[in-house]
Amino acid sequence: MSGQNPTTSKKTWANRWTFLLAAAGSAIGLGNIWKFPYIAGQYGGGAFVMLYLLCIAVMGVPLLMAETAIGRHTRLSPLNAIRKLTSDLGASKLWGIIGWMGMLAGFLILSFYSVIAGWSLSYAWDIVTGAFSGMNTDQVGDAFGGLVSSAPRQIFWHTVFMVITLVITARGIHKGLEKGLQVMMPALFALLLIMLGYSMLETGQFMRGFDFMFSVNFSKVTGEAFVAALGQAFFTLSLGMCCLMAYGSYMPANNSIPRTAINVAALDTLMAIISGLIVFPIVFAYGLEPSAGPGLLFVSLTAAFVHMPMGELFGFLFFVLVGIAALSSAISLVEPALAWLIERTPLSRTVATVILCAAIWFVGLGTVFSMSGDLTFTLFGKNFFDLLDYFTSNILLPVGGLLVSIFAGWIMKRSTLMHELGLSVGVFNLWRAMIRVIVPLCVLTVLITALF
Ligand code: TRP
Repeated sequence: MSGQNPTTSKKTWANRWTFLLAAAGSAIGLGNIWKFPYIAGQYGGGAFVMLYLLCIAVMGVPLLMAETAIGRHTRLSPLNAIRKLTSDLGASKLWGIIGWMGMLAGFLILSFYSVIAGWSLSYAWDIVTGAFSGMNTDQVGDAFGGLVSSAPRQIFWHTVFMVITLVITARGIHKGLEKGLQVMMPALFALLLIMLGYSMLETGQFMRGFDFMFSVNFSKVTGEAFVAALGQAFFTLSLGMCCLMAYGSYMPANNSIPRTAINVAALDTLMAIISGLIVFPIVFAYGLEPSAGPGLLFVSLTAAFVHMPMGELFGFLFFVLVGIAALSSAISLVEPALAWLIERTPLSRTVATVILCAAIWFVGLGTVFSMSGDLTFTLFGKNFFDLLDYFTSNILLPVGGLLVSIFAGWIMKRSTLMHELGLSVGVFNLWRAMIRVIVPLCVLTVLITALF
């Protein structure tokens, strides 16, 4: 990102790779590697994966295009982008709620995201210091229990992750991070391929894992699974909270938005699928439960690293790279609220970042304590973390996406979007029909099903 205040900068990124990299950096993170396998495992595999792919294609890609187009057209931060468009078009100021909801969603998501990223850092440390060596699978499972039941350990790593996020955000050194990402994202990809090789060749359960992910048991295609798939599609693509609007505002005018959107969605989906194909064969080989929940990735991969040649090295690299992928997502989660604080208050970027990150850190303690069992509060059978996750992914993001689609489809001028997207008339009309009718109807249907 440019070194200037991102809210006022009209500078654009130097070349078309930079936007792709930044958007992919935001999209690829814990959502793909940690969350996708565990949610798929909880909702029975194939049925969920099918619904998820459907949501990505039908709602994800058109919305990704819409968010990016709004950002690039206005070249403003999300809240100001919406404000400017509504005043230019004479539409209601209430649309500003899109920006507010985005900030709230980013804030809440980052609070638990940081705790999970902390787990990853903790695992990197424990693996490289030999804490797992010689353990059998039960002991690896107990070790995960040991981490989540310890509030101090989780708080320590949650703090480490938040401080790194804070420093990078406060100093506006996204540029440095992006240089790093050019190396680290491919490295993460390479490591995932190595692990995929392990799952294929060493577990003896690859086909079982593959079947679990891709054979659809239609009795499991339920309303509940659909909501989860929709939430996961939005979460993994960083949709529904104006993240890509913010990034789109830096995108050079001659980049193709549709092509980039398809590339981001494809890369992101590929990472999630590979992650699932790594995790499930290991799960079956070591007698674990696919529906184990948030610990699934950590327990299954560690069980494999313990048995692998050079497992300590691979394990360390893996969890560090997952932490870095999480970092590039975390930065995009903080940006909308930070941009607003800097614009609307006299605070400097540094002070605004410190206050915001401290508040996020504090809310994150709720996730820590609900994991550790110190916070026993539940509602509808969900603890604090589950509630936060459900409310953000399955409600806030889809509602945000619904509003963006209505705004782009019914309020904005056809010619503006046509110009930004640069599609032929036929394809543009197809996109517009999706954004005006299909996306809102699908999101609404899923949400209403969820409520009843
Ligand atoms: N997409 C990221 C992931 O999969 C998380 C994320 C970053 C996100 N920015 C977002 C989720 C904005 C929702 C909205 O890990």
